Amino acid sequence: MKLKPLLNSFVVLVSLLALVLALPGGVLRAAESVEPVDYAAKIAPIFEARCVDCHAGDDADGEFSLETYELLLKGGKEGKAIEPGKAEESLMVKFLEGRSGKEGKNKFMPPGKKEHCTPEEIAVIRQWIDGGAKPPAVQEKPLDVLAKLPKIAPKADHKKAVQALAFSPEAKVIAVGSYAQVQLLDAATRQPVRMLEGVEGKVNALQFSKDGMMLFAGAGDAGIGGIAYQWRVADGSLVRKFEGHKDAVYGLALSPDGEMLATGSYDQKIKFWKVADGSEIRTLNGHNGGVFWAEFPAGWEGAGERERGPHGEAVGSGDGQAAGYTFATAEGTDDGGLCARWEDGGGGRGG
Ligand code: HEC
Repeated sequence: MKLKPLLNSFVVLVSLLALVLALPGGVLRAAESVEPVDYAAKIAPIFEARCVDCHAGDDADGEFSLETYELLLKGGKEGKAIEPGKAEESLMVKFLEGRSGKEGKNKFMPPGKKEHCTPEEIAVIRQWIDGGAKPPAVQEKPLDVLAKLPKIAPKADHKKAVQALAFSPEAKVIAVGSYAQVQLLDAATRQPVRMLEGVEGKVNALQFSKDGMMLFAGAGDAGIGGIAYQWRVADGSLVRKFEGHKDAVYGLALSPDGEMLATGSYDQKIKFWKVADGSEIRTLNGHNGGVFWAEFPAGWEGAGERERGPHGEAVGSGDGQAAGYTFATAEGTDDGGLCARWEDGGGGRGG
């Protein structure tokens, strides 16, 4: 049969033609859908503006946090929020478009009377998911939020507001904390002795060691992070930074033996640090508001000492909830650790 090869090549030709015809459109469509959308530049700002009020922190709604790309990928209590490559089927897009299948006020995200995302915002989120939901090109750094702000130089000389004060009778020095710096003044003459600079954020708490050799500061930028600092008073050298809080540090307390530092932060946590090496000993969770104050009562004798009272109080802290203060007592245990006992108080100070 002579016809068969001919027919075959005809079929091949037609298929080729079909392929060629299909190609341009196909290629175009593919290119459109994979055009990369940068998460940090285009997507994160939408979540920051519309979602993180409810989807962040320990008690994020729907157990779904949008604080970082990793947490977003993790999803919430209903499972994955996005299916990379499949915007249409992604739970998040269903919520944004009011197709969540849930009736009532949570049908849309943001829910209730809150303004919905604009069609443009939804389109770019869809494009990002369809493009594979790629991670941010550069690792997110919380402090980058500040880097994005324009640097505006002040036109006039201005004094910085005083946020914290401490006095050491031993060093005969007054420490004055303000934004990004601590100034040391001679207690007798009130003359500046030294400026300690490079603090990230506002200095909210200051404490000298008993012997006046060291100065500790709690500081931070609201919503960004908090750090505690330790300087040598004699020469102003930075000894150590205590890093780990996710919001500004407001409360700071050095144990009477000078071995342990407690920091209370707006991130609702109290952290204990080993002064000798800056390592974190323990975090106390449980406050439902920022922790603004921390203190070791005078009778405190060191963690883990058996001779201490049955509930030897180690630290008190106050948060600014409407209900008043919440008190924390942390007690030493036989293994030298600390555990927390939480009590609700009606006002005043704990310890
Ligand atoms: C006013 C608070 C609020 C805002 C703002 C908000 N949500 Fe929600 N979100 C909730 C609550 C409450 C739930 C859990 C209730 C539910 O599933 O219906 C939830 C659940 C979700 C879930 C399901 C999580 C799971 O696994 O259960 C997703 C996805 C979601 N939100 C996405 C978003 C996105 C994206 C935005 C911003 C565009 C947003 N939400 C803004 C309150 C909020």
